[in-house]
Amino acid sequence: MVCRLLWSEALTHDRRIAIVGLGYVGLPVAVSFARAGANVIGFDINKTRIDELERGIDRTGEVEEGDVSHASLIYSCDPKLLKQADFFIVSVPTPIDAARRPDLRALLGASKTVGEALKPGDIVVYESTVYPGATEDECVPALEKASSLVGGKDFTVGYSPERINPGDKEHRFESIVKVVSGQDPKTLEIVSKVYGSVVTAGIYEAPTIKTAEAAKVIENTQRDLNIALVNELSLIFDRLDIDTHDVLAAAATKWNFLKFTPGLVGGHCIGVDPYYLTHKSEQVGYHPQVILSGRRVNDDMGSWIARQCVRMLMKNGTGDNPVVTVLGLTFKEDVPDLRNSRVVDILSELQRFGIKTQIHDPRVDAAEAREEYGVDIVALDDLDPADAVILAVPHREFKDAGWALIKDLLMQKTGVVLDLKNALERASTPQGIDLWRL
Ligand SMILES: NC(=O)c1ccc[n+]([C@@H]2O[C@H](COP(=O)([O-])OP(=O)(O)OC[C@H]3O[C@@H](n4cnc5c(N)ncnc54)[C@H](O)[C@@H]3O)[C@@H](O)[C@H]2O)c1
Repeated sequence: MVCRLLWSEALTHDRRIAIVGLGYVGLPVAVSFARAGANVIGFDINKTRIDELERGIDRTGEVEEGDVSHASLIYSCDPKLLKQADFFIVSVPTPIDAARRPDLRALLGASKTVGEALKPGDIVVYESTVYPGATEDECVPALEKASSLVGGKDFTVGYSPERINPGDKEHRFESIVKVVSGQDPKTLEIVSKVYGSVVTAGIYEAPTIKTAEAAKVIENTQRDLNIALVNELSLIFDRLDIDTHDVLAAAATKWNFLKFTPGLVGGHCIGVDPYYLTHKSEQVGYHPQVILSGRRVNDDMGSWIARQCVRMLMKNGTGDNPVVTVLGLTFKEDVPDLRNSRVVDILSELQRFGIKTQIHDPRVDAAEAREEYGVDIVALDDLDPADAVILAVPHREFKDAGWALIKDLLMQKTGVVLDLKNALERASTPQGIDLWRL
């Protein structure tokens, strides 16, 4: 089927937009432009994703049902369609490999696809999180190679980091100030205008592409380090028999105390992006001390929590073959996103102790959990009575059910409970339950 793109008279720009990569980031961007009246091609290499989107289904839950389909929005995995666009937004994954080095395969693959569709005058904007310099040093050569055009002359590039927070209904693509950058002043002007047509919170023009790339990566690095600090405090306070949340609540009464809480740092952003920065830093001869040390603290939290669970089971005199129920597998609450879940660190450390674990998560796709982590998601009613419950990811369902659910999952309604995100009301802890908070 050949689809013709027309542009709306009402728009403040005349660019024909293609979004490449329709995941958590790309889909809301595509829908937002389409909602504003722009003609948009939503391109993804994942046929299942395209089929679902064509049927109005967004499995990430980022776009409301009924808002996925728009007359001016075409979903496709046919790269030929991209030739109709002249403004490309690339939002493909930028993970790390097993050695924690940037894995740019999707970014370079998408650049090749876009390059094959490029025409003189086109603009390519990257939204994927990268290290400073990646757009110009890695993506432009890939675009040039595939298009036989010259970057900066025949076509230009920009970078505009994405700052959405999955599951967060308040901070949306349109309501977050958009940092934009361009290879030259004219490109910057067009990029600002295009994003300005949909982002109501305002546009911030960064002086260079590298600046915009660096700004994104430090936003998440800063969060990672702040969480590492409270995680380390939690390790100290546990040994001192002080409740970390009590300390944080007291300290937070000071006007300039930063409110961070301890926890597992999973997902594809906060636990990953700092490695993009440290990789680049090492390339230019500086071995980061603080950033990597924070990463180590955060990466070790899962096994520390598991060992804490074992200590409590032993202290409680739990018999042979204890069973531990873990609630939640996603990287954070109220999303189905399993990427880089650190809950699996808890499971594997417990299994190393020979402890039987079972996990329940109402939000995840069980087949994906099996494929990704070899973990079987157990239905709530099929969970065996447990000696300990670890409330790892406090989805709304768990919070609403509260202590009643926890008690039901424990053998004889007593035992060990680890509340990793301080989601249970401590004052209501039932008799016979030994509660520990991270
Ligand atoms: N999810 C977030 O909260 C968030 C927030 C800010 C920034 N980011 C960054 O945005 C980027 C995208 O993240 P995401 O969470 O949307 O990823 P995602 O995995 O949800 O979606 C990426 C999509 O890109 C598709 N894709 C992969 N290779 C492709 C290719 N060569 N051509 C076309 N499509 C391709 C995949 O099929 C997938 O549908 C990453 O760099 C991420 O770090 C993510």
